[in-house]
This record gives sequence, structure tokens and C-alpha cells, in this order.
Amino acid sequence: MDGWVLLCDIDAARAGPHRVVVDGTGLVAWLAADGTPRVFADRCPHRDARLSAGYVEDGRLICPFHLWAFDESGLYVGPDGVADPECTVARFPVREQDGAIWVRDVPVPATSG
Ligand code: FES
Repeated sequence: MDGWVLLCDIDAARAGPHRVVVDGTGLVAWLAADGTPRVFADRCPHRDARLSAGYVEDGRLICPFHLWAFDESGLYVGPDGVADPECTVARFPVREQDGAIWVRDVPVPATSG
């Protein structure tokens, strides 16, 4: 699987949002309502909280700080249930194979100095 990086066992995400760091970038692996994995940046677009400290409810990843909800595609979903395409979490290509979650295209943070 050229370009794919082994992230974690799917059981880790089955237990709830699971933080993994790849090349210095924090990611959160979680399972959508249909049981398929999603991998987002582990950083809420509101105030940078770790989404991995949140929980999954009704197929949405919930931030622990102010309870913003993000759908399976990474869009913020307001209390009215309407998704906002202007407010998103970075989402990465993901696949499941042999009980493991794989990801690709994770950006490497720039280093200073
Ligand atoms: S920091 Fe995530 S909702 Fe405020």
C-alpha cells in the first residue's frame, strides 16, 4: 500500500476517538455510524481542543470543550442539524485492512529554526 501509513488497530477507534501522532501531526481516528473509520486532524477549528478527548454521538464527533459536532466528512453541524461548509476539520484518506486503520496524505508540520 504505497503511501499509506499504519495508524492503529481498529479496536482502538471502536472504543472511542483515538489519538495517534504521525510525523508530529496529531490525528484522531474514530468510527462513523456505519462502522467505517474516519481520520481527522486532532484539532478543533473553534479553539484548538483535542477532538480525541471528545466522544462520538449519532455518527458525529463531538468536541469536549464547547460540544461542537462534526459529521463524517468533517463539516461542523450546528444545533439546527445543518452542516456548515465554511467550518471544517481536516480529513485524511483512510482505509481499513486486516483490522487496522491506514491513512495517507498527512502533512508534516514545518520545523522552525
Ligand atoms: S474548542 Fe471545540 S468546540 Fe470549542
